[in-house]
Amino acid sequence: MTVGTTSGTDRAAVEIPADCGAREAQRGLSAMAMGLVGSEILKIAGQVRALIAGGREVCNLTVGDFAPKQFPIPQFLADETHKALERGETNYPPSDGMPELRKAVQRVYRERLGIAYPLDSILIASGARPCIYATYRAIVDPGETVCYPVPSWNNNHYAHLVGAKAIEIPVGPDTNFLPTASMLKNALKDARLLALSTPVNPTGTVMNESEVRALGEFLVEENARREKSGRRPLYLMYDQVYRDLTFRGFRHETPVRLVPECAPYVIFVDAISKSFCATGLRVGWIVGPAAIVSRMRDVVGHVGAWAPRAEQVASAKLLENFEIADAFHTKMLEQVSLRLEASYQGIEKLRARGVPVEAVPPQGAIYLTIRFNLIGKPVPGSAGVFKTNEEIREFLLDKAGFALVPFQAFGVREDSGWFRLSVGAVSLAEIQAAFGRLEKAFGG
Ligand SMILES: Cc1ncc(COP(=O)(O)O)c(C=O)c1O
Repeated sequence: MTVGTTSGTDRAAVEIPADCGAREAQRGLSAMAMGLVGSEILKIAGQVRALIAGGREVCNLTVGDFAPKQFPIPQFLADETHKALERGETNYPPSDGMPELRKAVQRVYRERLGIAYPLDSILIASGARPCIYATYRAIVDPGETVCYPVPSWNNNHYAHLVGAKAIEIPVGPDTNFLPTASMLKNALKDARLLALSTPVNPTGTVMNESEVRALGEFLVEENARREKSGRRPLYLMYDQVYRDLTFRGFRHETPVRLVPECAPYVIFVDAISKSFCATGLRVGWIVGPAAIVSRMRDVVGHVGAWAPRAEQVASAKLLENFEIADAFHTKMLEQVSLRLEASYQGIEKLRARGVPVEAVPPQGAIYLTIRFNLIGKPVPGSAGVFKTNEEIREFLLDKAGFALVPFQAFGVREDSGWFRLSVGAVSLAEIQAAFGRLEKAFGG
């Protein structure tokens, strides 16, 4: 066998075929890895990219990401990242994060969210994902129960990763796609972790203040009951990566500000990814009880999921500078809102024409929830009827270049016609053109 080296051009490199190890892997992979399901959204996004590459006009409303041309990061953040790299901020950061970033997060939480945590309660990681993973890992033992609403983002995958049993709470438009405290009371008897996000991915809906308060009160009562009977506590993972993105008078709230007694049981997950259009920079953080956060630090540390040092230093400067951050948010919210409102109006226009569609008015995040209520209804221009969300998705993509993600990608099983529309990767003009095509597809 010849072994390729970087030094010799005279020796041929060993060729490794694409299917190398495939047969062995069938016996070699762990049961967990065998059972993992890849991201459904990325699969759809791949199909859309292929269509666009083939010359089709497609409005890509699928990915929960930002196209840098439409939504660039703050220039200040880019400049400070460059400067940090030039200064040589290129080695390992401390395992719990750069002190200046932890202090900046501490100040934002104190001055903007009204909750003052000690510094030891704050852990930096490479985006919200490792924070979620560390939360699941630090709280839930294999076989224990995690509870989350459906639709929701990726909880099914994280539950699988840690070997947890999942209790799914189906939610719909009657409760703004959020679980109410009374739904939780029934579902949470043995759960160790309740995973919630608000604003919600995929629906863009926002939990109102009275529900957030009821959630905090529920946590306190449930944990008092458990303490009395010697059972393990219930924790809440409160994912607030979209907290800066609310519209039409909706406001983000936290259970800890409203019911401070629930603080021992709440773990916040947060990041610059969505609020500063910085999904590729990979900076996120956990805020929670210090005794739990210190264990999460070790989870994140062993996985090596630190945020890059230069980005941490730059993020600290940005979070400290309320003036720059606020100015950025004002502009960003305006642009996201324009796109969401145009999409909502587009759906309303179709509805007025008698097409069986509806949408939840924009509330938060970069998402609009749309229902194409077409199951069992005729496919325009054909003899058949729509039987599944997948058929509706293919029809919208094929006939109108209108690319959406069905709620199946967020754990929903039934084909009820609900879809997520995401506006971060498209211009207003592209949305308007797409609705024009949609009108035609429905015979307009
Ligand atoms: C609710 C929610 N939490 C976390 C994430 C992941 O964020 P990050 O890119 O910082 O890992 C997403 C991404 O779409 C999300 O929607």
